[in-house]
Amino acid sequence: MERMNYEDIKTADPEVFKWIQKEVEREEETINLIASENFASLPVLSAQGSVLTNKYAEGYSFARYYGGCQFIDQVEKIAIERTKELFNCEYANVQPHSGSQANMSVYFSTLKVGDAFLAMDLRAGGHLTHGSSVNFSGKFFKPYFYGVDKKTETIDFNIVEDLAKKHKPKLIVCGYTAYPRKVDFKTFSEIASRTEAYLLADIAHIAGLVVAGLHPSPHPFTDFTTTTTHKTLRGPRGGIVMCKNKFAKQVDSTVFPGIQGGPLMHVIAAKAIALHLASTNEFKKYQEKVIANAKVLADSLKKLGYRLVSDGTDTHLVLVDLRPQGITGKDTVEILKKANICINKNTIPFDPLSAKLTSGIRLGTPSVTTQGMGEKEIELIVSFIHSALTNRNDDKKLEQIREEVKALCKKFPPY
Ligand SMILES: Cc1ncc(COP(=O)(O)O)c(C=O)c1O
Repeated sequence: MERMNYEDIKTADPEVFKWIQKEVEREEETINLIASENFASLPVLSAQGSVLTNKYAEGYSFARYYGGCQFIDQVEKIAIERTKELFNCEYANVQPHSGSQANMSVYFSTLKVGDAFLAMDLRAGGHLTHGSSVNFSGKFFKPYFYGVDKKTETIDFNIVEDLAKKHKPKLIVCGYTAYPRKVDFKTFSEIASRTEAYLLADIAHIAGLVVAGLHPSPHPFTDFTTTTTHKTLRGPRGGIVMCKNKFAKQVDSTVFPGIQGGPLMHVIAAKAIALHLASTNEFKKYQEKVIANAKVLADSLKKLGYRLVSDGTDTHLVLVDLRPQGITGKDTVEILKKANICINKNTIPFDPLSAKLTSGIRLGTPSVTTQGMGEKEIELIVSFIHSALTNRNDDKKLEQIREEVKALCKKFPPY
């Protein structure tokens, strides 16, 4: 990562510099299969390091509480226009600092404290902000949960509708953290309209696939759509909330002054740049490769006897059930770490183990695809994973795999 010498940090603060340098090396020498991560593009990184971080801009474009906003007003306007065009939505607010705050803005726009909503259980693939008891969404509101069908490990819409009829949630949430299959927004919207609930699609993971036209769009089916900008979308760490025009005022006032203060204008500029890059043909081709690589990942794992949740993937991620191998997700993370392969443990549907141990792992292809890796490299990575797990007690072998991983990474520098 030649461009990343950070000389100014080195001079000002050698202590922090040391750790940044170590992280640069880690990213250069590790195969990253964490499905929610990516390598942000250089213009996105540059915008985040720009002087826009200096500007306070409470309020919205052309209606701010601070002077000097005439230029960043344009930036925020561009980010909003690009979101609307790319996602084909009626209204957008680009200020949420994160995906969690984008979701929070929808909950506080639609629910009162104690109101019921329906979402997927965290253990089946939902997100913490979809009603977990340790999260604001589970503390302030009353979540009811749907999961997946035991046999197909996909959503059973009859169950979703039965739960919606029984509990009368004000809001139904779809879109997930660890669900390898496409989400049928249309059917969700039909259920929401029959049960008089608002519909929120949280497309944090699949946003890049959606804008590339490789996953069905949530629009025009949802009342609200939230996303992060740093996963398949390849933008800066942050969130966006989209909605129908009729909810615009409510969403804007919930984001600011409801739950946030001044917007991060350097991040909003980076979001605008990422959205521009996501509108190109090159980005579409990139997303096609992300999905193709995920399919090769799934097929190669299956050939070696691994069981995949729902038997495969339509997206950028696969969930592996490691019970047949007799290894927990937690141990797998540690074993693969020794081989410089970075993954995360994940519960699988009906997991008998806790979220700390887990029976599964989640693997995704956005980062390695950004590096330019293709089918051949994915097959090689699967052989590394299999070899590491088979030889998990042989430190010498793990070291040998680590050297091979480093050699592969060297051929595909992310920057
Ligand atoms: C589906 C989903 N929604 C929301 C979030 C929260 O995003 P953030 O970490 O930016 O708060 C995530 C993060 O992984 C996610 O997967």
